[in-house]
Amino acid sequence: MSGKATAVAPSNIAFVKYWGTRDVERTLPYHPSISMTLRHCVSRCTVELTREEGPVEIRHPDGLRPAPPGFTDAVRRHCRRLARWAEAETGMRVAAHNTFPTGAGIASSASGFAALTLAVLAALERRVPTEELSKLARLSGSGSAARSVLGGYVEWPAGAADGEGHAVQIAPPGHWELCDVVAVVDPTPKSVSSREGHRLAPTSPHWPARLAAVPERLARVRRAIEARDLELLGPVLEEEAIELHLVAMSSRPPVFYWQGGTLDVLQLVRRLRDEGLRVWITIDAGPNVHLICPPEDEPAVVERLAGVAAVRSTIRDRVGAGPALDGEHLF
Ligand code: PMV
Repeated sequence: MSGKATAVAPSNIAFVKYWGTRDVERTLPYHPSISMTLRHCVSRCTVELTREEGPVEIRHPDGLRPAPPGFTDAVRRHCRRLARWAEAETGMRVAAHNTFPTGAGIASSASGFAALTLAVLAALERRVPTEELSKLARLSGSGSAARSVLGGYVEWPAGAADGEGHAVQIAPPGHWELCDVVAVVDPTPKSVSSREGHRLAPTSPHWPARLAAVPERLARVRRAIEARDLELLGPVLEEEAIELHLVAMSSRPPVFYWQGGTLDVLQLVRRLRDEGLRVWITIDAGPNVHLICPPEDEPAVVERLAGVAAVRSTIRDRVGAGPALDGEHLF
């Protein structure tokens, strides 16, 4: 076999969070989630079909190096699953590269597994509709990968019945140009995986209150996206981010993703709003803070973040168009 393909897939930032896995085997959530696909935070993944199971590598500035064991296992499991699905008897060599810190709450698993799924299918010369691609990406175990196969604003329904577990685009990227400025307070991988956080979420005493609150927030976010209304969207973003971490911190055992710098950024954002900037925060499973704002306010947001000692770097991203195949292979 000689099939080789490279895919580039974006990360996404959830507005209404997926937190808690109802069905671990099929990676199905308790409730829908909504995200914005990013443009610049992307994973590139090259897959080549091989006779034996090939290596899983990460591209570093000095070349390809073996991926960490946990990542290698997850990648190999997903490659075997996709080969079974395609009824192809093949091994695979895989290499991946992210343009942003990995495992630090910038949804590297979403972009990574979306890119891997797309690259494997292309190497196997299988064309599937986006719904199928989304379902197959979801089965990697990273539910948010189901959303990264689409551009713009994306909803992943809870998928009550078989055949429903795929994401759908609710608005294309050109509908609303929003920015995501990521304040990186710690670029190193988190110590507790989101998989573990999902498993523990229902042990939090705040879990029932979260499940009750989500439907109204989904409705508000859908309305805000439709009307391009940041004043409506912003407060929901913050409710969602704070509640995800409230549930995580009160899970048994507790999971803490926030660091001191996380709070420094939260305080700055309140000050910036008092000064008239239109900026609200959200946070995934990590200490880094995503500042959502319109393009007009982005330069001032970036400049003010530079004055926060705990912010090590900033990433300027915005709504993006979704994944694509690409001829620039990693090996
Ligand atoms: O898809 P996972 O298992 O990496 O979980 C994603 C969890 C959050 O990023 C915190 C929320 C989300 O909806 O993306």
